[in-house]
Amino acid sequence: MKAFVIHELAHPSKIAVTEDWPVPTLKKNEVMIDVYSAGLNFFDILQAQGRYQTKPPLPFVLGSEFAGRISHGFPLPAGCPFKPGDRVFGAILGSFAERVAVPVTSILRLPDSLTFDQGAGLFVTWPTSYEALVGRAKLQPGEWILVTAAAGGVGIAAVQLAKALGAKVIAAAGSQEKLDIAKKYGGADYTVDYTKKGWQQDVLKITNGKGVDVIYDPVGMITDCLKCIAWKGRALVVGFAAGTVEKVPMNLVLLKNISLVGIFWGGYAVREPGHMPSVYKAFLDLLVSRKVSPPVVYREVYTLNSLADGLHALETRKTWGKAILRVKEDDTQAGKAKL
Ligand SMILES: NC(=O)c1ccc[n+]([C@@H]2O[C@H](COP(=O)([O-])OP(=O)(O)OC[C@H]3O[C@@H](n4cnc5c(N)ncnc54)[C@H](OP(=O)(O)O)[C@@H]3O)[C@@H](O)[C@H]2O)c1
Repeated sequence: MKAFVIHELAHPSKIAVTEDWPVPTLKKNEVMIDVYSAGLNFFDILQAQGRYQTKPPLPFVLGSEFAGRISHGFPLPAGCPFKPGDRVFGAILGSFAERVAVPVTSILRLPDSLTFDQGAGLFVTWPTSYEALVGRAKLQPGEWILVTAAAGGVGIAAVQLAKALGAKVIAAAGSQEKLDIAKKYGGADYTVDYTKKGWQQDVLKITNGKGVDVIYDPVGMITDCLKCIAWKGRALVVGFAAGTVEKVPMNLVLLKNISLVGIFWGGYAVREPGHMPSVYKAFLDLLVSRKVSPPVVYREVYTLNSLADGLHALETRKTWGKAILRVKEDDTQAGKAKL
């Protein structure tokens, strides 16, 4: 099968697709999936170079989030709730390939109304943003929230979810084009370009001098954002897309009674697996009732042959929404309607 295999640690731009990689062997309690779409994540770029916290032994197939169908012609574990052909989404190392073997506990049923492209961003991206806003920051209706990299993968999900939760959303991004995306597809109330000096003054003006109650930051720019946080605000540490792990001056935290709040969705699988189903149910309910909708506005959909370009585009800030690898064409009604 075709797969994006890391034979030696390297930047993804240096890696070509492998045409004849063996189909994975099923282990106990695993099911085989035909991958239709896979989500590109920032950490894929790091993992290909050995710069991410999980370092799989070489060689390995890159990729994590995916949506697809249970393959025909492979055994299913006892008690498996799925049958061949069922539409599912999940995440496991190795999803940038035509097939991937996954523990049955690591997949969920994909609602009929969602395309495989939309499903490919659901297993990590959406629960990260939902748990950040609801479980960690306890965002309340009517509160102000500032979302950085607001047109990005986790960012646009945060904008949509915050709106659905009744918050007032200020989307911050690095270009007018991305601000327009955050407004049009995310539903942001206001936008600010954080590449402009003194942008925090705009946030203060928008909030009548109060500042935002919550900061959602996947970039690593909490220190900058604290200039426009409200008294007793909460700052969510989501990621460091800018490339360095940020160090925050603690006097700023003290002076405004601020809470710095971490969110690591991957950690729940190990430390609090019992909490995960309620998070998936909560945002899937919002999706199915169409209160939120993963945008289908990707600049480009990538294939296994052009995946290196997609990862490069993600790294160089050229993507918006969820950047997607399409392995197989969507054959469902939802897919045909949205193609
Ligand atoms: N905590 C968790 O559980 C969790 C889960 C998933 C992802 N994450 C993290 O969240 C971050 C965002 O991931 P994503 O997949 O959603 O990516 P993304 O938001 O689609 O892309 C990153 C965005 O960050 C902004 N950015 C600002 N400075 C940048 C720089 N120097 N280099 C590159 N980008 C820069 C860019 O938007 P502008 O052009 O608008 O500035 C860029 O589009 C990553 O650090 C990722 O590891 C955390």
